[in-house]
Parts: sequence; C-alpha cells; structure tokens
Amino acid sequence: MTITFDLAGKTVLVVGGTSGINRGIAECFAKQGARVAVASRSQDKVDDTVASLQQLGAEALGFVADVRDQAAIVAGIELVVAEFGCLDVLVSGAAGNFPALATGMSANGFKSVVDIDLLGSFHVLQAAYPHLRKPGGSVINISAPQAFLPMIGQSHVCAAKAGVDMLTRSLAMEWGPDGIRVNSVVPGPIAGTEGMARLAPNPKMLEMARLSVPLKRLGTPEDVGHLVLFLASSLASYVTGAVIPADGGWSLGGASGLSGMMAAALMPESSSK
Ligand code: COA
Ligand code: NAP
Repeated sequence: MTITFDLAGKTVLVVGGTSGINRGIAECFAKQGARVAVASRSQDKVDDTVASLQQLGAEALGFVADVRDQAAIVAGIELVVAEFGCLDVLVSGAAGNFPALATGMSANGFKSVVDIDLLGSFHVLQAAYPHLRKPGGSVINISAPQAFLPMIGQSHVCAAKAGVDMLTRSLAMEWGPDGIRVNSVVPGPIAGTEGMARLAPNPKMLEMARLSVPLKRLGTPEDVGHLVLFLASSLASYVTGAVIPADGGWSLGGASGLSGMMAAALMPESSSK
C-alpha cells in the first residue's frame, strides 16, 4: 500500500526506535523520504536500525542513550540537530514492561518502569522542545491501553502510561501557542513484538488476545506507523492533545480479556474461584 504524506525532507527522531513497533514507525518515516534518527540503549540495535533505514533510501543516524539519563538525551538530541540541521517530528516510545503483581514487585521494579516510560518521556520532550518550537513541530508519544484500562499485573505500566497521556494533554496546552502539536498513539496487541511476548508468552494466550480484538487480528507495526505518519503530517494540523488508539477496536471491550489472562498466569488460585 502506498500512502503519501508531506513528510519528505522532514527530520524525525524516534526514541526507542530500534526494535518492534517504534522501529516499524521509523521505517514508515524513511519510506516517506524523511531523514530519520533513532535512539536506544544498545549500540548494536542502533547500528542495525540505521543500516536498515539507509537501505530504505533514508538519510539516517542514531545515538545511544538511556531515557533515564537526562544529560545523554540532551546530548543526543543536540547531535541530531547538529547533523541534520533541525528537528521537525519527535516520536517518544521507549518503554519497559514485565508482568508482576504489585505485591511481587520491589519499589525499584515499579520505579524502573515509571522512570523509563514517564520520566524518560519528560526528558525527551523537554530536550526536544527548543528545536520543535515552530509551526509544524509535532510530538507523538507512544502510549498503551494500560493508560486508561486497569490490568492485573500491570499497575506500574498503568500508572506510567496514564502519566504519559496526561503529559500529552498538558503539553499540548502549554506548547500549542509555539506551534507544537502533541498527541498520543495507543497501539493494541501488535504481533511479533517484545511487549506481546512478555504479556502473552505462549500461543494460547496470543490466540486469546487475537480473539479479543473486534477486527480479529493482531496488529502490525505499520498499522501504528500509518497513524503516526498522519499525526506528524500537515493533514493533522488541527489535531493536538488527542489520545488515539490503533488497536483494531481492542480497547472497546475493556481490559477484561488481557487482565483475565494475566490473572490466570499470576493469580491462579483466585482466578479459578
Ligand atoms: N518481575 C518483578 N520485578 C522485576 C521483573 C519482573 N519480571 N523484571 C525486573 N524487575 C525488577 C528488578 O528486580 C529490579 O528491581 P530490584 O533492583 O529491586 O531487584 C528492577 O525491576 C529493575 O530491573 P533491572 O533489570 O535492573 O532494570 P533495567 O533498567 O536493566 O531494565 C526493565 C528495565 C526491567 C523494564 C527491562 O525489562 C527492560 O529493559 N525492558 C525493555 C524492553 C521492554 O520491556 N519491552 C516491552 C515494551 S512494552
Ligand atoms: P520493544 O521492541 O522492546 O521496544 C522498546 C524500544 O525502547 C527498544 O528500541 C528499546 O531498545 C528501547 N528502550 C527500552 N528501554 C529504554 C531506555 N531506558 N532508554 C532508551 N531506550 C529504551 O517494545 P514494543 O513491544 O515494540 O513496544 C514499543 C512501544 O509500544 C512501547 O512504548 C510500548 O509501551 C508500546 N506498546 C506496545 C504494545 C505491543 O503490543 N507490543 C502494545 C501497546 C503499546 P534498547 O533495548 O536498545 O534500549
């Protein structure tokens, strides 16, 4: 399928863009003729992703940083601007997840996810702000259904991603006068990703997840990427502060499907009562 947006020549940074959904998003931008930068903790993943973006014909670069390290994020964004001359679009999608009941998790386990997903998003958005501050500047935060659907075994992720969506809404208000639009995209269950491998680690759970999607299929990174392209483009120039699912309708049914699966895995005694 060929869809064209006015993103050719734009400079895009995808933080957490070296695997899974976010890498798919970076590739969607590359196919539009954008210049694409990616960042994550692993040099190998950064190098591999940059090579694949270049194979798609894009000007591409990457840097290694942990989003919890504010100085490293500031330095990385300065590098992107020095190399590419500007920054037009920021996709912030670095995240961590593991299934764990609140009682089975240390405070540091809870903090790790909040620090990556929420504080990390703040670091990334704040560092990018001076460069995005112009008409057409656009931020897309990669959220999750846990932001608005409570799930068993996901209290840390629910708290963190709810915070991400409130960051989206509040910064849309603060930064609107600067010309920056800030939106969240909420992927549903996306096949072949680390996130799904962690939450639905066997074929039975994966099939239950598929059946709980009204469109009866798991999503692809491109399903998410196409919505991100729209939000980054001028076609969405009046859209800001929005939290938009690309989930095949999965969130319409509430979290009971996934929560039920997680309860069966994490609380076998109570889920069989
Ligand atoms: N259950 C309970 N606690 C867990 C856990 C699990 N499955 N996995 C990690 N933790 C706890 C650790 O025990 C540690 O707490 P402690 O110091 O009190 O023992 C804390 O979380 C941090 O773990 P650590 O491995 O040091 O963190 P990290 O910074 O290296 O990695 C994670 C962060 C834990 C989120 C890791 O899973 C990660 O890097 N994830 C990125 C990929 C990912 O999650 N993709 C899916 C996105 S949806
Ligand atoms: P993934 O492949 O694990 O992607 C996570 C990315 O973030 C990787 O590039 C990872 O690279 C990077 N990252 C992780 N921790 C980081 C840190 N501390 N600092 C910098 N980079 C870090 O996961 P995914 O399943 O595709 O998920 C991608 C996004 O979609 C996440 O925001 C997730 O919450 C959201 N989401 C996923 C699903 C799903 O079905 N998978 C559903 C809803 C929402 P390094 O390891 O090299 O750091």
